[in-house]
Amino acid sequence: MAARPLIAGNWKMFGHRADLGEIEALREGIRGLAGLDVAVCLPATLIGAAAGLGVPVGGQDCARGVADGPHTGDVSAAMLADAGARYCIVGHSERRRDHGETDAHVRAKAAAAQQAGLTPILCVGESLEEREAGRAEDVVARQLEGSLPDGSALVIAYEPVWAIGTGRVPVPADIEAMHGRIRRELTGRSAGWASAPILYGGSVKPANAQEIFATPGVDGALVGAASLKAADFLAIIAGHPAAKRP
Ligand code: PGA
Repeated sequence: MAARPLIAGNWKMFGHRADLGEIEALREGIRGLAGLDVAVCLPATLIGAAAGLGVPVGGQDCARGVADGPHTGDVSAAMLADAGARYCIVGHSERRRDHGETDAHVRAKAAAAQQAGLTPILCVGESLEEREAGRAEDVVARQLEGSLPDGSALVIAYEPVWAIGTGRVPVPADIEAMHGRIRRELTGRSAGWASAPILYGGSVKPANAQEIFATPGVDGALVGAASLKAADFLAIIAGHPAAKRP
């Protein structure tokens, strides 16, 4: 079974209540799109308010543990689900960088998300140094080895660290090779992951979305800066073959 396409926004640490109009505009723009899923991963403060607006929403991180507990400042996957989230990004490179998250942490978070009924969007990706040393695929394979959870609900986002927020994007052949490797890593471990979407992320814009979506093995995108404005995000979505309206 082919993966169902998903285009997910990642608002990062942007977005106040005054920006919720962008979610409403997005809802209007994706009305009637049946061939792909669209979601927006929001700051935790906006999830409750956005969840009722008609666009699936997600968190950007969750606590490692499943149970509620004395962890000041943390938000559990169950709390995100309770607020209306359906997805949760885990292992984004900004969290690995800013909070020292390891693959083992990411695995625990992905498992916690699954147990709470959320679909984890598990991020992997190499640094520029690793790509230039010819080690990109091995680095990503090792990240998967250390962070894949057991459950079947799963989305992978391949995000080369050097492509995030830089305007630089790998050439299509490199994206295709990496997505092929990730698919082999997944299917080698579980038949249930044969149709897990593998998204590309890192400087996806309206101008390059069509080429990225046309790349074999790319099931959608994780979009940062260009997801903040509905008009830009909708222009990206329109570049996906499954978004063509009759
Ligand atoms: P970007 O971010 O689209 O702004 O490069 C992508 C991401 O970090 O998920």
